[in-house]
Amino acid sequence: MMDWTDRHCRAFHRVLSRRARLYTEMVTANAVIFGDRDRLIGFSPVEHPVALQLGGSDPKALAQAAAICAERGYDEINLNVGCPSDRVQGGNFGACLMRDPALVADCVAAMKAAVAIPVTVKCRIGVDEQDPEAALDALTDAVLAAGADALIVHARKAWLEGLSPKENRDIPPLDYDRVYRLKARLPGVPVSINGGIGTLEEVAAHLAHVDGAMLGRAAYQQPELLMRVDSLFFGEADPHEDAFAAVEAYEPYVAAHLAAGGRLHDITRHMLGLFTGRPGARAFRRRLAIEGVKAEAGLDVLRAAVDEVRRAEERRSMVA
Ligand SMILES: Cc1cc2nc3c(=O)[nH]c(=O)nc-3n(C[C@H](O)[C@H](O)[C@H](O)COP(=O)(O)O)c2cc1C
Repeated sequence: MMDWTDRHCRAFHRVLSRRARLYTEMVTANAVIFGDRDRLIGFSPVEHPVALQLGGSDPKALAQAAAICAERGYDEINLNVGCPSDRVQGGNFGACLMRDPALVADCVAAMKAAVAIPVTVKCRIGVDEQDPEAALDALTDAVLAAGADALIVHARKAWLEGLSPKENRDIPPLDYDRVYRLKARLPGVPVSINGGIGTLEEVAAHLAHVDGAMLGRAAYQQPELLMRVDSLFFGEADPHEDAFAAVEAYEPYVAAHLAAGGRLHDITRHMLGLFTGRPGARAFRRRLAIEGVKAEAGLDVLRAAVDEVRRAEERRSMVA
């Protein structure tokens, strides 16, 4: 997710779940080819399994970008066919590609020919006046014929006229059944569902119909959710007993970033949702928002913020 799932966010989420697959922000093919690669696609080995999401609609450029990313060690290349922003439409990629399955198929075929790792597609169920029955089948059949290894479907249309990207994540109605029907029609194809999933109980319910569930805002805004993913869905022990232990386990990563000249805020801005709903959560956020943004802020600020929650919980248990 743009501006959210950067490398620090992903490294933090990896502390919370060893198994959840993490996705980068969308990076355009041309940015990968011509831009500052360390900044745009650099990642830490701790992040695996991690997928890089590309935006674009030029098969040659996408193939070249995919090869560069595979060479860097990403585990999957995902093509964005779901972003509705004007900038993206201007470049003729993202959700507007729902109207051009043949071109998306050419893109997938070119990427598949360039890399050995899985190439997947994230799409909507349709755009604007399209009939989602026909539009989703046409797009998915085309990309599967071109070799796509899996599909992730944001279970709502994008309305390209008149809605902002933010509105396009909430206003077009969700249609989970449409994604379930896609999976029923394509039993051999890994299909993941996305859109409006807020709890792991909801994930479990979706998994009765599809192979995977992608959480966007819920995972970012309440990252503690991720702490039970490994035991609930992968049959493995969760990595940490609680969020306090998770933050401690993340400290060496934070220390390394600071030692390399990075700022605490680069990291803690992705942690504001931790402890949501608990006593002390607001004080935690306030500390990070006020003290964590200072240039000289160090690990002590993060520890002091976490202590706000610890103390608030102690106070509550004394009262109880
Ligand atoms: C801040 C933000 C940035 C996003 N950036 C991307 C992106 O780069 N690529 C993408 O496929 N989807 C992006 N999305 C959409 C999400 O991946 C997801 O499809 C959408 O939010 C619906 O899922 P959710 O209800 O679980 O959040 C973004 C969403 C948000 C809130």
